Amino acid sequence: MILYFSGTGNSRYAAETLARLLDEKTEDMSILLRENCRELELTNEKRLGFVFPVYYSGLPTVVSRFLDTVKFILPSDVYVFCVITCGGSAAGADALFRKRMAEKKSSVAFTASVKMPDNYVLLYNPATQEEAEKTMQEADKTLASIGEQLRQQQTGGYDSGFGGKLAGGVMQTMYSLLRNTKKFFADDNCTGCGECETLCPESVIRLIDGKPSWTQKKCAHCTACINRCPTRAIQYGKATEKRGRYKKD
Ligand SMILES: Cc1cc2nc3c(=O)[nH]c(=O)nc-3n(C[C@H](O)[C@H](O)[C@H](O)COP(=O)(O)O)c2cc1C
Ligand code: SF4
Ligand code: SF4
Repeated sequence: MILYFSGTGNSRYAAETLARLLDEKTEDMSILLRENCRELELTNEKRLGFVFPVYYSGLPTVVSRFLDTVKFILPSDVYVFCVITCGGSAAGADALFRKRMAEKKSSVAFTASVKMPDNYVLLYNPATQEEAEKTMQEADKTLASIGEQLRQQQTGGYDSGFGGKLAGGVMQTMYSLLRNTKKFFADDNCTGCGECETLCPESVIRLIDGKPSWTQKKCAHCTACINRCPTRAIQYGKATEKRGRYKKD
């Protein structure tokens, strides 16, 4: 079983690629949470994988919430692994994930990271189509190699060490301060299709009088709504009007 979280599709793509290579099933952590999952009984599983993006050198809120909420019932010899997708470096997220799993009395046997197109349009220009295609060519090679390492049940893998732990701690404080929804709005290009409401993993968006409203002060900042809106109607303050959009289909 491979559990994944993905805002703009990179981590879903990585999870599905690895699942194909390993003949595993995938489940979306945000959907499991939405369906009120509290316990996962995986007593017949040989492997349990987690695939998600690094956010601010640490874990996306959805992954943290999943680990807080869901109890795992696992065989004692299950092989637990984690693959972190990133725009630059996964540093920090590996250490935090291992720490969180240790608190749940599970140890992570193998960790890997894979560089994929950057999607954080709220802060800067995301990958262009050309950049994304180039990055994906390398990512496919990395995923094939990770798949082989997982098939052989290798141990160890990516470890960002003390520097990663330090970065993760500091940057996660920034994440909790910056992940505001106040600057989100839909401009006149909004058709009221409701896609943003359906896809928000934090169930923050509600359509009111045919237009999206961000109903909570904070969200995951996963960028799914702004990057996936079919008419590019969602903005985050003034800067995003001129920026590109990125999603992996
Ligand atoms: C809120 C947020 C924070 C991010 N922080 C980092 C980071 O600290 N380091 C990094 O290399 N990439 C960072 N990224 C880029 C993503 O990790 C990367 O593009 C990832 O592959 C997106 O995965 P997804 O398409 O499955 O959502 C961040 C993206 C977002 C939206
Ligand atoms: S996805 Fe875009 S067009 Fe559709 S309701 Fe949301 S903002 Fe409007
Ligand atoms: S409001 Fe947009 S950026 Fe925030 S969690 Fe929902 S989809 Fe992601």
